[in-house]
Amino acid sequence: MSSTASPSPDQAPVPALTVLGIETSCDETAAAVVRREPDGTTTILSDVIRSQVAEHEAFGGVVPEIAARAHIALLDRQIEQALDKAGLTIEDIDAVAATAGPGLIGGVIVGLMTAKAIAMAAGKPLVAVNHLEGHALTARLTDALSFPYLLLLVSGGHTQFLLVEGVGRYRRLGSTIDDALGEAFDKTAKLLQLGFPGGPAVERAAASGDPARFRLPRPMLDRPGLELSFAGLKTAVRNAAHGAAPLRPQDVSDLCAGFQQAVADVIGEKSRRALAAFAEAHPEAEPVLVVAGGVAANAAIRERLACVSETAGARLVAPPHRLCTDNAAMIAWAGIERLVEAAHRGESVDDGAVPPRPRWPLDDRAEPVFGSGRKGAKA
Ligand code: KG4
Ligand code: ZN
Repeated sequence: MSSTASPSPDQAPVPALTVLGIETSCDETAAAVVRREPDGTTTILSDVIRSQVAEHEAFGGVVPEIAARAHIALLDRQIEQALDKAGLTIEDIDAVAATAGPGLIGGVIVGLMTAKAIAMAAGKPLVAVNHLEGHALTARLTDALSFPYLLLLVSGGHTQFLLVEGVGRYRRLGSTIDDALGEAFDKTAKLLQLGFPGGPAVERAAASGDPARFRLPRPMLDRPGLELSFAGLKTAVRNAAHGAAPLRPQDVSDLCAGFQQAVADVIGEKSRRALAAFAEAHPEAEPVLVVAGGVAANAAIRERLACVSETAGARLVAPPHRLCTDNAAMIAWAGIERLVEAAHRGESVDDGAVPPRPRWPLDDRAEPVFGSGRKGAKA
């Protein structure tokens, strides 16, 4: 894939940059090589991902200790493959970028320490990347978006609205106060014995269901603001399922359809409010809503977002699914963005002393939120 983001006229061109990215914060062991030309053209030279779904399937969720051990076993080979596919050796790389948090700490340690060792041995700079920054900047890699834009990040580990105003300039407008949305899909699927990961299974079952049969709550819709909550909805599904037991396939479909519609209602209304907040903060900017994270694959949610965006006169941007879910190309790209930003200031990046962090909010000014998500507490 290749896209162009023009450097602004007052900024001196930055030499070509080729960066190795490493991602190990949850259950994907990933490595990628991304290149940026001086004119801003970008190319993903390689992007390899080994998902650990098989390792965690039997447990109905990600087991941190198993994930960390799997990263140790898999990462070296993934990095080798990423370099091979790019047709490069470590000598051709300008910097190594790795997720330093937030995430499951065992996995983050494996990825960051590996990256530090490679960077030190090869004499290259290390960029310690915030995983959320990787998600936040992906749309600039895929769609050459300029700042500012609104991001809705909905995955198994995160659910938040972010105002993306520049590299390192993020404002969290709202986030879940308990479960991440993907986690709510996964728990609903587990409860209804639909398997893991649950999102696609719930969506499939919902297709033949009646969303009106079970009356499920729309959490936080009656409150102003952009905070979200999904734990109560999950409990309501459990209670409804117990009430209808023993469940026939049609009952399962109806429960899934009801759950999915409740979620779409909440996400739709909160996105409408978030777009209004964006317009207030940046009245001169083209309103753009970027959706990222595994849950962005859900057609019902996407349709609702398209509808809300159209009504608000906003453009909806959804990067390709592979780059919306956890991957290392977004980490390499975030590393490149940081290097370019530093070069414009006449500085270099040296994150060799940055420690791995289980929690690392993108917006330090935002109130802490004690949501959980697949990767543990997020802020
Ligand atoms: O971004 P992702 O691959 O990994 C992280 O959590 O960071 O997101 C995975 C999540 C899982 O919870 C999965 O159930 C959910 O995304 N998901 C979906 C769909 N496909 C994946 N949720 C709803 N509908 C889908 N079609
Ligand atoms: Zn993620």
